[in-house]
Amino acid sequence: MHCLPSLVMALSALLVALGVLHLWLFHHQPSCYGKHEPCQPKEGKHPAARAPRRAHLPTRCAWFLQELPAFLVPVLLLALRNPPRFAPLGCRLLGSMFCGHYFHRTFIYSFFRRGRPFPLKILFFGVLFCIYNGFLQGYYMVYCAEYPDDWCKDIRFMSGLLLFLFGMGVNIHSDFLLRQLRKPGEFTYKIPQGGLFAYVSGANFFGEILEWFGYAIATWSLPALAFAFFTLCFIGPRAYHHHRYYLKKFTGYPRSRKALIPFIF
Ligand SMILES: NC(=O)c1ccc[n+]([C@@H]2O[C@H](COP(=O)([O-])OP(=O)(O)OC[C@H]3O[C@@H](n4cnc5c(N)ncnc54)[C@H](OP(=O)(O)O)[C@@H]3O)[C@@H](O)[C@H]2O)c1
Repeated sequence: MHCLPSLVMALSALLVALGVLHLWLFHHQPSCYGKHEPCQPKEGKHPAARAPRRAHLPTRCAWFLQELPAFLVPVLLLALRNPPRFAPLGCRLLGSMFCGHYFHRTFIYSFFRRGRPFPLKILFFGVLFCIYNGFLQGYYMVYCAEYPDDWCKDIRFMSGLLLFLFGMGVNIHSDFLLRQLRKPGEFTYKIPQGGLFAYVSGANFFGEILEWFGYAIATWSLPALAFAFFTLCFIGPRAYHHHRYYLKKFTGYPRSRKALIPFIF
């Protein structure tokens, strides 16, 4: 394999288009898993129309299977490169930041997750997406990315890395706080408290968005920017729908809390 800039450009553009499509499809209606399942009937359908029964997997198993390709595909690309090439900065950034995130998501987060069974249909699209994005990020960093020797002292690298680490900290801490709301085997929803949940309903999503914009700045690459944009389009609306859900469900929900961005939105 060698670097094909047109392939990187096309796959990044498609990722942006998928983000826009998702935003368009799901800004009115939430994606149908977790607290937004069962889904509302589509507009024009009778409210009594029941959604067809959907197949589900236990949440831990589903998240492990869904996230695994995002870790495995770049690792395989790194390992199978001929001749092997782990030393360049691009490979090290991919290995430590991108694969680091997905190592945690696959092997740690999945095993601690407490939640409702996950719809098989969404899992299927999640797996396809993780293969696609794992390939794009991995291929670019292993075969295309080139950095000057002093990139680690560049303000873009340093500020991006700080943002990535801060976002990852917020994301992991917020997911931990959500987990603490329930006892094992419990499925009820409660008002999230603590950390950045004091400011936003989607603190875990806010952290993840910061993380990927940090990665995009640190790597200064088109595929990483496309992924950060996709993440914003994917989990931004989810934070908004969670916020509306809480306002409707809990009369005492803190009115000053925003949906996604502290003090702003
Ligand atoms: N990069 C991307 O494009 C992308 C896309 C999707 C997700 N993610 C990341 O993946 C992680 C999980 O995403 P998600 O959509 O599943 O997040 P979520 O809807 O916030 O749910 C996370 C977990 O917390 C539980 N939970 C949520 N609200 C709760 C409440 N009020 N009371 C008690 N438990 C509650 C959920 O249980 P239930 O399952 O029972 O609802 C689930 O187990 C997040 O860190 C997110 O940033 C990233």
